[in-house]
Amino acid sequence: MTQPSGIERTLNVDLGERSYPIHIGVGLLNRPERFVPYLAGEQVMVITNETVAPHYLDALCQSLPEHLDVRTLVLPDGEQYKSIEQVSRIWDALLEAGFNRRCTLIALGGGVIGDMVGYAAASYQRGVAFIQVPTTLLSQVDSSVGGKTGVNHPLGKNMIGAFWQPKAVIVDIDTLVTLPPRELSAGLAEVVKYGFIRDEDFLGWLEAHMDALRQVEPGIVAEAIARSCQIKADIVAEDETEQGVRALLNLGHTFGHAIEAHQGYGNWLHGEAVGAGMAMAATLSCQLGWITEDALARTRSVIESAGLPLAAPRDMSADDFLVRMRLDKKNVDARLRLVLLKALGDACVSDATPPELLTELLTGYPRA
Ligand SMILES: NC(=O)c1ccc[n+]([C@@H]2O[C@H](COP(=O)([O-])OP(=O)(O)OC[C@H]3O[C@@H](n4cnc5c(N)ncnc54)[C@H](O)[C@@H]3O)[C@@H](O)[C@H]2O)c1
Ligand SMILES: [Zn+2]
Repeated sequence: MTQPSGIERTLNVDLGERSYPIHIGVGLLNRPERFVPYLAGEQVMVITNETVAPHYLDALCQSLPEHLDVRTLVLPDGEQYKSIEQVSRIWDALLEAGFNRRCTLIALGGGVIGDMVGYAAASYQRGVAFIQVPTTLLSQVDSSVGGKTGVNHPLGKNMIGAFWQPKAVIVDIDTLVTLPPRELSAGLAEVVKYGFIRDEDFLGWLEAHMDALRQVEPGIVAEAIARSCQIKADIVAEDETEQGVRALLNLGHTFGHAIEAHQGYGNWLHGEAVGAGMAMAATLSCQLGWITEDALARTRSVIESAGLPLAAPRDMSADDFLVRMRLDKKNVDARLRLVLLKALGDACVSDATPPELLTELLTGYPRA
């Protein structure tokens, strides 16, 4: 496949001896030279799900050199399958194939596959190599970068896991062509989040290119993914295990997680809940006098133009929010800690919100 000029780019996640590259481009699934340098040995297992497999599994396997021992495993699709049972199926397949410590796992799919395969790689024989091949926008800009891996437990989402970095992340933008528009918008929530927390210039660029992004114009999408990954990579390099600045990545997520949990996971996509959650966090920042009405209006308009909701769910009361938000991992003692905006492109973690102001926001905030 010919490579349109100027689209391909590579950036580096700088974590000392655990550093790894992120390659972004079109047609990368068909380019073996993108994968071969990161294989630990000759045993390779490509793990994907039932939805992604028919589109991309053959293309990926065919591009791997013939002398390799390549196995595949296709798991069921869905957040409800992000479980230790499915990871156990990966362990079974690896053991049955006689794979040793120099094997390499390839995660082909969205964040669910990436998180599970990463955890299987972290735990199989105390840790083997893995490569992320993310196929949703969300996984390309967020979950495949940063080394958080794991599964859900019946008592809590993402409660079992490990930090385990991939050897490389290979983002083939062509895979977004089959992604449903709703999933694309959900990924854009994380993209605009990077602009809000860290980079006003990027935010302006996103405003100018939102239509092209939603139409998956390759050059524009590559740029958005690269800038998003760079911001996340910088933050992760500063704070790999989330002791400080990494918490900023949770803008909109305390409100968003409350929405997801209340609505039942899957009814609102994560990115949709984060979209409304960021609008709520921006509104609170404005009520605290930190950002202007104009900045708030701009925030809301970017979220809306990404195809995301601004309003909170109709059937969710202020108390429904507060009960869930008090369970948030960021809280220390009894104080609610929120990521808020000091300006567009500049977020902070704050426990300065007076409880009555938060209740007022949650009571008065528009419902869909
Ligand atoms: N590790 C992290 O740092 C991190 C960060 C954010 C989110 N996550 C996790 O990521 C998961 C969400 O990821 P997601 O939004 O990618 O969800 P997902 O993996 O469930 O993918 C969404 C849907 O799109 C389908 N799909 C994937 N690629 C496709 C393609 N190219 N064409 C058509 N359909 C395709 C999937 O099969 C699925 O049905 C959650 O479990 C979340 O906890 C992890
Ligand atoms: Zn998120």
